[in-house]
Amino acid sequence: MKTRILCGIFCFFLLGGFRQSPSLKTPALVGLRTNPSLKTAEEVKKVVCQGLPTLEGWCSCEKATKMMDLIIHEYKNKEPVCVEIGVFGGASILPTAMALKFNGKGIVHAIDPWETLDCLQNYVQGDVNYEWWKQVDLRAIYQSYRNMLKKYDIESYCHTIKSTSRAVANSFDRIDILHIDGNHSELASLEDVVTFLPKVQSGGYIWMDDCGWPTTRKAVEYLSRFSQKIDSVDNGNCLLFRKF
Ligand SMILES: C[S@@+](CC[C@H](N)C(=O)[O-])C[C@H]1O[C@@H](n2cnc3c(N)ncnc32)[C@H](O)[C@@H]1O
Repeated sequence: MKTRILCGIFCFFLLGGFRQSPSLKTPALVGLRTNPSLKTAEEVKKVVCQGLPTLEGWCSCEKATKMMDLIIHEYKNKEPVCVEIGVFGGASILPTAMALKFNGKGIVHAIDPWETLDCLQNYVQGDVNYEWWKQVDLRAIYQSYRNMLKKYDIESYCHTIKSTSRAVANSFDRIDILHIDGNHSELASLEDVVTFLPKVQSGGYIWMDDCGWPTTRKAVEYLSRFSQKIDSVDNGNCLLFRKF
């Protein structure tokens, strides 16, 4: 569905800028909260998978489950720094933040400008991506994302950065888990990989969404030079890499 609606060609690379000065202040409550109502990892995963169809976005139950398993098991006694580029309605933030909440530690930085101009960047009028993003009410999508955070009580595990990825690329010292799902044009997806991969710890993880798009091919090739593909979900559309 997503592929059909959004897949297209890239055009020109236009300079984006700071739309809003980002703040990377970590919420004070991080690491202190646990959720006594969800006792097992299986319960958390069930709640998330039941919630996904009610959210704006494209995260499958299969992907959400694997994202949660990675955090719950691999980072059980650590405080992972997770970064997601491209949030939309928060469908993939939900599993990430719920897994952090289950463990009682860590943070996910959720980067998205929620601005039509940024979604149109590198696409030309008439392109299927251009036409689709032009008609999306990103204000409403952003509001649905805020409602989702409140509903699941995950605000203290999620730090929202209303900005382009480029504007905040240099703000991170260390990333444990990176999820790349922003602007899918060739230039933007490649730029996301090139600028954010150096921040990922050796042994850290990278989820790359929509790997089957012709426009993300170069980004996937770049990722493959510096990390090992270790898992595949949604029939290969989303890949998990581990950095060398
Ligand atoms: C495919 S959607 C994300 C879907 C979401 N991860 C999910 O699983 O449902 C792509 C998102 O990237 C955002 N985006 C566009 N340009 C961006 C940029 N330069 N930096 C960060 N996010 C961007 C859009 O606003 C949009 O919400």
